[in-house]
Amino acid sequence: MYGSIWCHNLNLSSRNLAIALVVCVTLVYFSYSFNACILASISRSLQEQSFFHNQSTLSNLLMLQVRNDSDTVATVATAASTAIDVVATNASANGVSTATNLSTTASTIDFSAGLASVDGAPKYQMLRQQGLRPSRHLPDTLIIGVKKSGTRALLEFIRLHPDVRAAGSEVHFFDRHYQRGLRWYRHHMPYTIEGQITMEKTPSYFVTKEVPQRVYHMNTATKLLIVVRDPVTRAISDYTQAASKKADMKRFEQLAFVNGSYSVVDTNWGPVKIGVYARFLEHWLLYFPLSQLLFISGERLIMDPAYEIGRVQDFLGLKRVVTEKHFYFNATKGFPCLFKSEARSTPHCLGKTKGRNHPHIDTNAIDRLREFYRPFNNKFYQLTGINFAWP
Ligand code: A3P
Repeated sequence: MYGSIWCHNLNLSSRNLAIALVVCVTLVYFSYSFNACILASISRSLQEQSFFHNQSTLSNLLMLQVRNDSDTVATVATAASTAIDVVATNASANGVSTATNLSTTASTIDFSAGLASVDGAPKYQMLRQQGLRPSRHLPDTLIIGVKKSGTRALLEFIRLHPDVRAAGSEVHFFDRHYQRGLRWYRHHMPYTIEGQITMEKTPSYFVTKEVPQRVYHMNTATKLLIVVRDPVTRAISDYTQAASKKADMKRFEQLAFVNGSYSVVDTNWGPVKIGVYARFLEHWLLYFPLSQLLFISGERLIMDPAYEIGRVQDFLGLKRVVTEKHFYFNATKGFPCLFKSEARSTPHCLGKTKGRNHPHIDTNAIDRLREFYRPFNNKFYQLTGINFAWP
């Protein structure tokens, strides 16, 4: 009897052992597949980054790096930091950890060590030997405005350059979050290596009174990019955006003028007020010399993006890497679009909120607004030394 109980226990424990074995093997298999998947993504991402320099593989880039080509070094670093982003995204997608957790880790570990952990191959030692230790920096360059003039297009176009890294969304540090301090601001900046420019865009900076002085206190050498567009079209664009968010919005003509006639322009109405560029510019010029400001024509940014981006690259002391070969004109959208960008490897345009159809506005209202803006435009041409030739 004791023998049969013993046999029964033996059967039971060997069955448990078998189940445990199967569970172990399954766990090992899934963990292996997951790791392989992450490594494949990283490798693909590194290869995609070579688009900017027409290189097909990371080893090509690294070989060029040996020749001390500084541009190539910057490209490798961009690719490498993208790899870290990919790890974060993949981990999040697999439910293993959140992207926030991983990016926190990335901010505390040595970057080269991070690379070594995803690929211990000796080629990565070169990055370490070059002293490439990406870190977050306060911006060197700001796109300060003007709202609805093409600020998103400018940012998306210039960040095609491998030596430009930009904060993804508008940080609003100098106008809304100034009390949080520069440490907070820096934490919102992307990782860069030496030689790369950190950029941020918040269009409301241009029209916020306190901002010029605050930017000056951060860094007197900050370079400022300002996209401007015919203030009448800009006002209509601003209104169109507001109306898209509010169903019962009054007509443009009712808001732009006082007392229902076209005689008095309502200069307190935001979309009209912002277009008096000279007034805001004068305030910036109290803190920054004209040589630190670059004005980009919003109209030309649509008609000839490569030309305007060429000027921006010169102003920032960058090699002209972004050229006409990066753009194509999309007839359906009616705007220039990109063949590739940092975020996507297929042709694409800016989102639906950029390049909206505007409502019809009474031509008498438009004429009156043009008349209103004319002296301010002339003052702006005089201050900038550029005739934008707005009607
Ligand atoms: P509309 O949507 O009124 O046409 P911002 O990015 O500063 O908000 O500016 C939006 C404006 O950028 C758009 O206003 C559009 O005219 C202009 N723009 C310039 N280049 C563009 C592009 N390539 N694609 C879409 N819009 C572009």
